[in-house]
Amino acid sequence: GDPDPVQDFCVATKVGDSESSAFPYLLSDDFFFGAQAHGASTDNAMGSGVTPGNVEAFPGLNTLGLSINRVDLAPGGVNPLHTHPRSAELVHVEAGEMLVGFVSTDGTFYSKVVKAGESFVIPRGMMHFQYNVGKSAARAMTVFNSQLPGVVFAAQSLFATKPEIPDAVLAKSFMVDVEIVKLLRSKFRKGY
Ligand code: GLV
Ligand code: MN
Repeated sequence: GDPDPVQDFCVATKVGDSESSAFPYLLSDDFFFGAQAHGASTDNAMGSGVTPGNVEAFPGLNTLGLSINRVDLAPGGVNPLHTHPRSAELVHVEAGEMLVGFVSTDGTFYSKVVKAGESFVIPRGMMHFQYNVGKSAARAMTVFNSQLPGVVFAAQSLFATKPEIPDAVLAKSFMVDVEIVKLLRSKFRKGY
């Protein structure tokens, strides 16, 4: 379940309203979420689409310490490298086949081609991806032991920040010239 921090910080939250949501006023629909019956478009540079089912989309999850995403991948599509600071992730493939991989803190890369009906687990905080290595569309449901796992995309969190991380910091960190940093920024500033 969720440990103490469930958000990056705690200014205020729109989720939940525990004071006013007394039992008798709850409806069956408060525990239902249907948005994942259809996948998100994969018509983008990554060939992937994620339909989130965290507490912001599915308010009934509040305080329950779990959530679910749907991941759709076109052939060759990638759900690009990212981490979830507050959750492990269980990837259950429902259609097609995808290479699912993560990197542990000692730099070991663990990966597996996972097919329909099979599952793979990504420990909390590890950098990971899904890559459709099959010939047809692939789909997975991803389940989290947090109501709001958080997502940190590797590329965006370095090259599409507001304001920008200084050129010198990125150039030194990646041991490349500033031109390379500017090229990468130009790719990610507009999103996919
Ligand atoms: C997949 O990695 C997801 O975060 O849903
Ligand atoms: Mn993930």
